[in-house]
Amino acid sequence: MTTPAPGARPPERRPEREPRRAVVVGGSRGIGAAVALRFAAEGLDTAVAARDPEQLNGLRDHARELGLGLTVHQVDVRSAESVDGLFAALTEGGGVDVCVNAAGRNLSRRLISPPRDGSRTWRTHGEQDWRDVVDLCLTGTFLVGRAAAAAMAAAGRGGVIVPVVSCTWRGSWGQSAYAAAKAGVVSLTRSWALELGEYGIRVVAIAPGVVDGAALREKCAAVPAHAAFMDRLRAQVPLGRFADESEVAETALHAVRNTYLTGTVLDVDGGGFPGRVR
Ligand SMILES: NC(=O)c1ccc[n+]([C@@H]2O[C@H](COP(=O)([O-])OP(=O)(O)OC[C@H]3O[C@@H](n4cnc5c(N)ncnc54)[C@H](OP(=O)(O)O)[C@@H]3O)[C@@H](O)[C@H]2O)c1
Repeated sequence: MTTPAPGARPPERRPEREPRRAVVVGGSRGIGAAVALRFAAEGLDTAVAARDPEQLNGLRDHARELGLGLTVHQVDVRSAESVDGLFAALTEGGGVDVCVNAAGRNLSRRLISPPRDGSRTWRTHGEQDWRDVVDLCLTGTFLVGRAAAAAMAAAGRGGVIVPVVSCTWRGSWGQSAYAAAKAGVVSLTRSWALELGEYGIRVVAIAPGVVDGAALREKCAAVPAHAAFMDRLRAQVPLGRFADESEVAETALHAVRNTYLTGTVLDVDGGGFPGRVR
């Protein structure tokens, strides 16, 4: 590291412009959809990208009923070609100032589990399960962040990259692949903030606790044991409830609006997550 000469002025930073265009990758349902609708309601020209065209079109129709406009794009974040194609299309359409990435999937797997049925062999976390989670949650975030940063830097208008991580990034009992992938994204957030500040690009991760969304409610209705587990988990959250998707969307908006935030993680977890639910 070089020490600046006494009295030397810090390098000029480009002031951030008012963001106009956003993309929410993994925005066709759940948290990402809530963020996209909130951004559109705030007047941002918002694009949503995910894999399933039916869900994308369904969200676009729902937004239209609310008087909001969304454009939709198909993308698979595990493919560099697909992600680069998305950002080429966004650039062609006028550029991108805000990129939220909510594409991700939780996986509950213990590293080792006791043998069953009289066997003496301990069961272990599947290697493919590990690779699938890392591919989607960590490599996908790398590919999206890389393409977003290149598009923003080329346009010279600065921007904000907002990866959605999870409160599990500090480690989570029975979710080591997911927690490690999210911790990797926190590390990317800090590294990218260091690299991209000079281009006026900020990087802010948001880390929700459990979100009380449609998928969770459907699973709890279908699987009573899961509902009971979730009740025990909810009771251990200091605020005594899970997050509403709108609370996560509000935090994404804060990450965009507060122009002095970068390289940090915004926890939206009701006060914390237990080490182990019993
Ligand atoms: N829900 C929670 O309690 C919670 C808590 C903490 C953190 N998080 C994190 O928040 C993010 C969103 O979670 P969520 O619960 O809202 O998830 P969700 O309802 O399952 O939505 C996931 C979104 O990502 C898209 N997606 C999945 N795989 C993709 C791929 N390969 N390429 C492109 N898009 C893909 C999905 O659409 P397609 O399947 O059609 O592609 C969908 O739009 C995730 O990163 C998750 O880890 C969630």
